[in-house]
Amino acid sequence: MTQQPARGRFITLEGGEGAGKSTNLDYIHERLQAAGVPLLLTREPGGTPLAEKIRTLLLDPDNRDMASDTELLLMFAARAQHLQERILPALEEGTWVLCDRFTDATYAYQGGGRGVDPGRIRVQEDWVQRGFQPDLTILFDVPVEIGMQRAGARGELDRFEQEQATFFQRVRSAYLQRAREHPGRFRVIDAGRGLAEVQQQLDAVIAELLDGRGHLPGARGNG
Ligand SMILES: Nc1ncnc2c1ncn2[C@@H]1O[C@H](COP(=O)(O)OP(=O)(O)O)[C@@H](O)[C@H]1O
Ligand SMILES: [Mg+2]
Repeated sequence: MTQQPARGRFITLEGGEGAGKSTNLDYIHERLQAAGVPLLLTREPGGTPLAEKIRTLLLDPDNRDMASDTELLLMFAARAQHLQERILPALEEGTWVLCDRFTDATYAYQGGGRGVDPGRIRVQEDWVQRGFQPDLTILFDVPVEIGMQRAGARGELDRFEQEQATFFQRVRSAYLQRAREHPGRFRVIDAGRGLAEVQQQLDAVIAELLDGRGHLPGARGNG
């Protein structure tokens, strides 16, 4: 008799600009790969050819007149495509998915940053995700000045990166608020530390993930 593979875990990485998400995506990837976990790496907005086209619209500094509702709808349009085409099929076949940003980023940027009422975000989250939530969310929390310094060294700024420090303060606060509201799902990393220390903190989270392969507390549905 053939057994269905266990469903994969959905892990999201969150945090402001320069927090270290992309750097540590590779680190977490290596660790999980070494443990024999089949893994898909992806990002939002984007992750499929169509969703990447929507990303281009969202990040293009020329679109400075984009209304915040348009921005919100495009984020969820890209997410709907990403979920249906990539994330859900991978989880179904037992592959874990590690995603650079997901819906918590919408609460942080469109909610905290732009000031969109979280209730308007929730309606779309329910509509697109139908209760689907990450199993684990790693929040890289970094003081805004440090994050901006790190990100500034990367070159040309996209439409979000061009925002002012006060915008990113609101993003950071909204992320921390999300973590307080969903303590079962969130792990907060002090990402203002040096890389070695950040990765030590990550090792503890990864160990917990691998331990909990069958029974992670605060899993799906806990939101
Ligand atoms: N803990 C850290 N200490 C110092 N520099 C870091 C640290 N984490 C990341 N960096 C550097 O900061 C820059 C931004 O990191 P990145 O991973 O691209 O951030 P994000 O994807 O969250 O915007 C990169 O040049 C990276 O090498
Ligand atoms: Mg990045």
